[in-house]
This record gives sequence, structure tokens and C-alpha cells, in this order.
Amino acid sequence: MFAARQVFAQSQRRCFSASVRQASKVTVLGAAGGIGQPLSLLLKLNPRVTELSLYDVRLAPGVAADIGHINTKSKVTGHEPTASGLKEALTGAEIVLIPAGVPRKPGMTRDDLFNTNASIVRTLATACAEHAPEANLLIISNPVNSTVPICAEVFKAKGVYNPKRLFGVTTLDVVRASRFISEIKGTDPANENITVIGGHSGATIVPLLSQSGYSLTGEKLDNYVYRVQFGGDEVVKAKDGAGSATLSMAMAGARFAESLLKASQGQKGVIEPTFVDSPLYKDRGVDFFATNVELGPNGVEKIHPVGKITDHEQKLLDVCVEDLAKNISKGVEWIKANP
Ligand code: NAD
Ligand code: LMR
Repeated sequence: MFAARQVFAQSQRRCFSASVRQASKVTVLGAAGGIGQPLSLLLKLNPRVTELSLYDVRLAPGVAADIGHINTKSKVTGHEPTASGLKEALTGAEIVLIPAGVPRKPGMTRDDLFNTNASIVRTLATACAEHAPEANLLIISNPVNSTVPICAEVFKAKGVYNPKRLFGVTTLDVVRASRFISEIKGTDPANENITVIGGHSGATIVPLLSQSGYSLTGEKLDNYVYRVQFGGDEVVKAKDGAGSATLSMAMAGARFAESLLKASQGQKGVIEPTFVDSPLYKDRGVDFFATNVELGPNGVEKIHPVGKITDHEQKLLDVCVEDLAKNISKGVEWIKANP
């Protein structure tokens, strides 16, 4: 028992070792879901979070009561869809994570979730624009390639859009790309950090193995790229109708939130690939694109260029840009027709 407690304490120290320098309220919208619950748990273990605010259309007070018993310092509150529920959940938030929405079942693409999730994200983004316009907004709800542009349009319509504060969370692709190469090469996945650019679905996910010094070829390379691009399908199939990735996504979302908190608390050189309003491919109709982004106290500090890539990676990138343009304009057109 003692040994288990020691291991837990050590792992907490490893994950979240820096000293806390300021108050940080973090809000999760969709906190009672498959992602929301473990994500909220991980955020409760993060000493950089001083207040954890959990909102869902069902069960958030229960999740908050449960997580609130954990013996870390942060205050936990649960909020329901009452007249002031969203306002209370959001006011004063530094970071808002949105994993609200329906997940895929086998045979579906992320785009098949569009009709349901676009409306959910529109409602929640509207509340964020009203009650937490300066928060960093982290979008997990799929299809990310379209829900992020929807949020941008909602914020623009309210006159509070700040492109440095809106992020599509693509961290799970980086986590997978790093894990999968370590399985092939027999390395420690903790030491791998494969850059993944583009967007978050199928062919829009482009891992840049060459930038980590790897040179897989032929079938090995094709299989690797396919696994990174369709890793989500692996989980959807294995869960057999009960949803998509939740636990690995919770870890990825908590990692991205931790990176933002580190950066906002003054740490330099915090870099994560993330899907943001980016100048890189605007000339090809792509207003949002994921590359390595340096984070800072104001959100996006610096968007890195794609950098040197192989001819094979360039071919993947060309397909990605074409698909992304369609996904992004689908979101923008929908929100214009359904403000
Ligand atoms: P889930 O069904 O288990 O949970 C979703 C939660 O959202 C539920 O608790 C539900 O009550 C809540 N919700 C629905 N409408 C809401 C609203 N208007 N306001 C607040 N809460 C609301 O689903 P999940 O497995 O947690 O997945 C959630 C979303 O995340 C899906 O769209 C899924 O595709 C996506 N996802 C994204 C990534 C990524 O890498 N970005 C990874 C995995 C899953
Ligand atoms: C993932 O990559 O696991 C998520 O986007 C969920 C999904 O639908 O695959």
C-alpha cells in the first residue's frame, strides 16, 4: 500500500513538477463524458490548476463531488444547464476544454458527427464568447477540422475573436505517432516526440518521421503512416459501438492544458503541435493548420513553419491541404447558415 502511494506520488511529481505561481481556473464542458471524466481527474492531479469547474448537460455535480474528494488543493465545482450554469462554469476561466459531443461508432467517419456536434459546439462557443472571451479555448469535439472554424466564426460574430487563444487539440496524434514508432524501433516512447501536422482526421493527419531522424521505407512506412492517420479507427473498432478513444484522449488533453499552463506561468520554449489559425496555407484556402506552435502567456506565441520534409511527406501534405480546405469551409458555411 505504502509502495503504491509512493509510486503514485512520484508519477505525479514527474508529470507536474514545477511550482505553481498563479491562480488558474480550468473549465471542462462535457465533463461527465468518456473523455470528460478522466480528463477532469487528471486536471485535479495537476497542482497548476487552482479551480476546476465541471459542466455537462448531465451528471456534472456528481462527477465534481467525486473528484472533489481527491486530496489535492484545487477547488472543484459542478454545473448544470440551469439559467446561470454555463455562466458560473465559465466566468474567470483561463482555460476551457470542450470534449462535449457524440463519439463515433464503427463504420462512421468523424465528419458523420458533424450535424450533431456542430450545434453543440456552437452553443458552448457562444457561452464562452459571452462569459470567458479571453480564455484559451481547447476544442476536442469532432470533427475538429470543422468545429474549430465554427468556434472562430462564433467569436468573430460576437466581436471577441482572438486567433491566439483558439486551439484544436491534435495532441493525441502526436502521442500515437510517438508510441507507434517506439514500438517499431524498440525505443522508450517517453523519449519520442514525433511532429504531426495538418488536421485531425484520416489523410489530414501527417506525421513527419523524417524530422526525428527516422527513415522508414516501403510497406513499413505506409503501415506506420496509416496507423497514425487511422489510429482512432483502431479504438472505435475495438470498443465495438461503445465509443471512441477516451482515456488516451484524456491524457492528451491534460498534456496540452499543462503545456498552456506552463507557458502562461512564464516557462519558455513550450512547443506543441496544435490546429490553429495559421498563415501557412491560407493561399490554398486553409485558414487553420496544425504545426509546432510555441505557447506563451498570450496563447499562441509563434507558429513554426513545416520545415524540411521528404518528397513522400510532401505528397501526404498535398492531400491533407486539399481535404482540410473542404472540412474548414464546411464548418464556416454551416455556421453562416445557422448562426
Ligand atoms: P461521450 O458521449 O462519452 O461524452 C460526451 C459528453 O458531452 C457527455 O457527457 C454529454 O452529456 C456531453 N454533452 C453533450 N452535449 C452537451 C452540451 N450541449 N453541453 C455540455 N455537455 C454536453 O463522448 P466522448 O467519448 O467523451 O467524446 C466526446 C467528443 O470528443 C466526440 O466528439 C469525439 O469524437 C471527440 N474526440 C476527439 C478526440 C481528439 O483527438 N480531438 C479524441 C477522442 C474523441
Ligand atoms: C481519435 O482520434 O481517437 C478521435 O478523434 C476519436 C475518433 O473518432 O477516432
